[in-house]
Amino acid sequence: MSKVLVISGHPNLEESYTNKIIINNIAKNIADVEIRRLDILYPNYKIDVAAEQNALIKADIIVLQFPFYWYSMPALLKKWMDDVFTFNFAYGPQGDKLMGKDFIVSITVGGPEESYTPLSYNHFRINEFLKPLEQTAYLAGMNYQTPIVSHRMIYIPNVYNTQEDVEARANEHAIALTQKVKELLK
Ligand SMILES: Cc1cc2nc3c(=O)[nH]c(=O)nc-3n(C[C@H](O)[C@H](O)[C@H](O)COP(=O)(O)O)c2cc1C
Repeated sequence: MSKVLVISGHPNLEESYTNKIIINNIAKNIADVEIRRLDILYPNYKIDVAAEQNALIKADIIVLQFPFYWYSMPALLKKWMDDVFTFNFAYGPQGDKLMGKDFIVSITVGGPEESYTPLSYNHFRINEFLKPLEQTAYLAGMNYQTPIVSHRMIYIPNVYNTQEDVEARANEHAIALTQKVKELLK
């Protein structure tokens, strides 16, 4: 049986409107999934490298689920990657431990899709901002999958969106992610 590992990179999932919904959906709808909530496991950012590497080794499909922060990933998830993707694990002469695994980047983005275009205020496409993760996958020999991206996910009462709208989009995101994982499991 193939195993799915979801790394939740939200620094405070309790206060999340959208990532929390996605994570809860995945827990219900994908069999044999392991969800590792970095905010609960590592509130002090002290990553248990052996535990994380063991979880990765067991997985066939790896999902990074996170909110897009400053055009990148939250610091907690970056620390996780810096600590866990070590020499002779993810790269180097014996660094084949992630080789052949499917790698899905699954993100919630505050800005609308049209803002991520050359003439708008975010200037670059989301896929351009995700290049470091794409190349990390290639270096480690993983299969980089088309990322699952949802826009307009920021909720600031009376300023950006409504809670109802972002929650609906989070549910749609969870459906797309579940479908993608199930296709890969076939
Ligand atoms: C520290 C921080 C940085 C953010 N940076 C960006 C950004 O660069 N681009 C963007 O579109 N949204 C940005 N946002 C909005 C978040 O992506 C959005 O609030 C988040 O995806 C919603 O997820 P949640 O409901 O699970 O917290 C940022 C939010 C925070 C708190």
